[in-house]
Amino acid sequence: MKVTSLGHAGLKVETNNATVLIDPWLSPEGTFLGSWFQYPSNQHLITPSLLQPTAIALSHEHLDHVDPWFLAQLPPDTPVIIPCYPSPILKKKIASTGLKNIIEIPQWQPVQLAEGISVFFVTEDSPMNHDAAVVIVGDGKTLLNLNDARLSLAQLCSIRTKVGGVIDVLTLQGAGASWYPVCYEYSQERKQELSDRKRMAKFSYLERAIASVKPVTAIPFAGPPCFLDPELAWANSEIENGIFPDQQQVVNWLHHQGVNNTMILLPGDVFDVMQQSKQPDPFWADFSFSDRDSYIKNYSQQKATHIAAFKARYPEPTESLWKPFREYFQGLLAMNSYFNHKIDMRVGFDITGAGGGKWAVDFRPGYEGVYNEIGECSYGYRFASRWLPALLHGLPWEDFFLSLRFVAWRDPDIYNDHLLGLLKFACPQSLQAVEDYENSMDSQEQITIHSEGQTYKIQRYCPHAGVDLQEVGEILPGGILRCLSHHYEFDLETGKCLNGKCKLLDSTRI
Ligand code: FES
Repeated sequence: MKVTSLGHAGLKVETNNATVLIDPWLSPEGTFLGSWFQYPSNQHLITPSLLQPTAIALSHEHLDHVDPWFLAQLPPDTPVIIPCYPSPILKKKIASTGLKNIIEIPQWQPVQLAEGISVFFVTEDSPMNHDAAVVIVGDGKTLLNLNDARLSLAQLCSIRTKVGGVIDVLTLQGAGASWYPVCYEYSQERKQELSDRKRMAKFSYLERAIASVKPVTAIPFAGPPCFLDPELAWANSEIENGIFPDQQQVVNWLHHQGVNNTMILLPGDVFDVMQQSKQPDPFWADFSFSDRDSYIKNYSQQKATHIAAFKARYPEPTESLWKPFREYFQGLLAMNSYFNHKIDMRVGFDITGAGGGKWAVDFRPGYEGVYNEIGECSYGYRFASRWLPALLHGLPWEDFFLSLRFVAWRDPDIYNDHLLGLLKFACPQSLQAVEDYENSMDSQEQITIHSEGQTYKIQRYCPHAGVDLQEVGEILPGGILRCLSHHYEFDLETGKCLNGKCKLLDSTRI
């Protein structure tokens, strides 16, 4: 087995009988509305030979994993293997490129791609998060590609067991795909504090995942992106100190924790898993992560015409967007009352520029509706009107948020998972899957924990998405329990979630 980096989260896996591409993202226009670009660039890998794989495996629907530009160049009958998700978004994105042979497989079910090579997926437990690990077994070796999936430690151990106890290569995301806290209205100091926290949370997940999987070689990848539009240049500072650490920084941090079986692959570098050796791509002979500023400056100049051409495709509207906005959100409000009840607040939209306005969507019982005035909101978004028509015509809100082309605010300062869930899925069957999952979570089983001289009986499974707190519960000073799955924090005395809109944790001091 040979594993070649295609840049970002893209991998080419070659065995004796097959070549599989996983999550190739090579679009010269970057993605997320001309916002994200591959860092470092992978454009030298766009060659005809890359366009004849045995199959493609795609982990989830984010556009840095499903690249319509690249997929449209493949032969239409190329098999595309994807996990089953409640939402049809991933399938729709692939079908829009002309690819016809889409094979959806339930998680844990291997599919043979050719003699001696198979693939299976393992998805996150909650249908609120469409992320999946991709496992390839070929030539007697195993690649576990975690990409953006935040699997529980129990799931990771089960994968190891399923493949016979040895994971040869573990690839895992070193820099999260997120807009929090960078797009929120915080003071600079508070933003830095939250960015640091998010960076450390990601690092500690990597350390725990590596400890659970015990791979022969661990490769951090799938980020960071870089931002080449001058309007977004500020986001590149997140590489140095914030939520988008580069691979070298991740590896350095892991070394500090005593994790030394790591490797960095730049686009085009090949790791021969059988020989345990790396063949560096000579293209990078002069590259260093420490020259980031000058690299990004040059890269930005090279892409200036692509970015300008892209933005020209999103002109300012010439008519008011109020009516289509109202119709769109009336449709969302009618989609799932469980979600409305969970969101339970007024959300403001400050759409700037021609055709825009200050509008609100109220999800509170008794006030439900779409309003032509913003009023007092608990959550708000501000962005340019040029992006709104695309959103109202099906651009997924999560793809838009990942573009960082907006500002958000919220009061109280707590995360509302169901608001993002409604916006990103906007589809009855996906919302129903989340509702069913959350209503089926077991809150009966209890565990005992100790904090600051007190003993508490708490529910074993996190009220957010049902992960086992025995495995991922961390006790913080001040009688607080943090669930390391999505970092919700609970006051052990009251059970109240302190940083997210979430059910009470069942907790009793004994
Ligand atoms: S499962 Fe999401 S915070 Fe616990």
